[in-house]
Amino acid sequence: MKNIKGKSIKASILKSFHDFKENEVILCRKELLEWYYKNKRDLPWRKQVKVEDRNQRAYGVWVSEIMLQQTQVATVIDYYNKWMKKWPTLQALSLASLEEVNQLWSGLGYYSRGRRLHEAAKKVVGENGGIMPESADHLLKELPGVGRYTAAAIASIAFSEATGLVDGNVVRVLSRLRAIGANSADPQIIEAFWELANKLVDPDQPGDFNQGLMELGATVCTPKSPSCATCPLQSLCYAYSQTQKNDTKLTNKFVLNSKMDKIVDIECVADDCRFCIPASDSWDSNLGVTNYPRKPKKKAPREERTAVFIIKCHQLEEDEYLLVQRPENGLLAGLWEFPSSLLKENKSTQDLKDKLLGYGINVPCDSNRDHIGEVVHIFSHIHQTYVVEAFELENKPCSKTAAEIKLQWLTAQQLQSAAISTAMKKVFKVYENYENGKQVPIKKRGSKCKEVDERQLKKQKMLMESFFQPKTAK
Ligand code: ADE
Repeated sequence: MKNIKGKSIKASILKSFHDFKENEVILCRKELLEWYYKNKRDLPWRKQVKVEDRNQRAYGVWVSEIMLQQTQVATVIDYYNKWMKKWPTLQALSLASLEEVNQLWSGLGYYSRGRRLHEAAKKVVGENGGIMPESADHLLKELPGVGRYTAAAIASIAFSEATGLVDGNVVRVLSRLRAIGANSADPQIIEAFWELANKLVDPDQPGDFNQGLMELGATVCTPKSPSCATCPLQSLCYAYSQTQKNDTKLTNKFVLNSKMDKIVDIECVADDCRFCIPASDSWDSNLGVTNYPRKPKKKAPREERTAVFIIKCHQLEEDEYLLVQRPENGLLAGLWEFPSSLLKENKSTQDLKDKLLGYGINVPCDSNRDHIGEVVHIFSHIHQTYVVEAFELENKPCSKTAAEIKLQWLTAQQLQSAAISTAMKKVFKVYENYENGKQVPIKKRGSKCKEVDERQLKKQKMLMESFFQPKTAK
């Protein structure tokens, strides 16, 4: 919708077919909260809610909510417990180093989350005596890394502010309840979800209501195999009623069926409704309620190949491996990794060799490196293939170089607890498997380059052949 000056204006979902009526809002709150109190999972951060000190409570909720973004609950539990043990308060976190934060976050992915949480903790302690802002608006404005969702989660769960919230689970639940088939990634449609969430939230128990909605999305109203039979909100669900209709030709017009308490004919009669499944995109009866939500297809991740060298230096006590630090910005900022370099069109490792020369390391020729294999790791937007090779160094480069460039030598054991990414841990695992399974060395270490080896082989072959030649009479 455009205004007179041609600018887009927000179209409210309220009062449309896709809205909740007052009696539905009341029913939804009652059913959802009852269900939540009976079925909620026993998660460590939920114990925080009993903590008397609101500020302390908010800290625990904050940590959990940041960790839960883009990460499964089952994975987060362990990280959350370790984090709260190491930094039980905001003050403790503010005194940590970024290196320690990255170390603890190692394996959880999306590392900027940990970095910004740390940064924000320092800000709260440094500028506000360790007292967190208490409203969603202030949390959003004042804390780095706290977006609209996290601000609403902290404000509602820790400070009982009556604000709704919208995350992926909530989008799924609401889009099914109200048959919202428009592109759920469209900012205006997201805004419509916020309107509905704010209308639904229970002002007396906003934190539990919000957690209930997310919990329902995570455990019942799941993306691929929702369990409609056990859903406490089935009677409010337009998508469910749509599956009960036999008329498979229906698109955005349908009727609630007799499984509901009352037989009510409801259909979206708006012409060209912006919240319905678009007329160009039909309802697929095989998908049932999972017709909702609708998202545009994700862009395929870009393909990248990266050369990685695992460089071992034999030490008296234990072998050590070279790690270099990634730049302070961008993907995996500040984490440690084996020296690596993107393989460009020419697919040569020359860039990596040049980089290592800068660290005072001469890379041996191709035939004197072990070719370990390829390791694939999928980042959200990159399909990354690491081409892994390994070699040994007699001596470490001089310490001056090591101090200038951020590099360090770690033992295999130290590597496990260092601030390195999951991708690099995978690379190292493949390397270790290769080393352990290596029965006959592919080539003798320290042997000469390929060209020389081949000459040597030829010479040996000629010798053997001459040995088997029938002796000619003199
Ligand atoms: N997902 C993210 N935060 C959540 C919470 N507090 N409860 C349930 N699911 C969640």
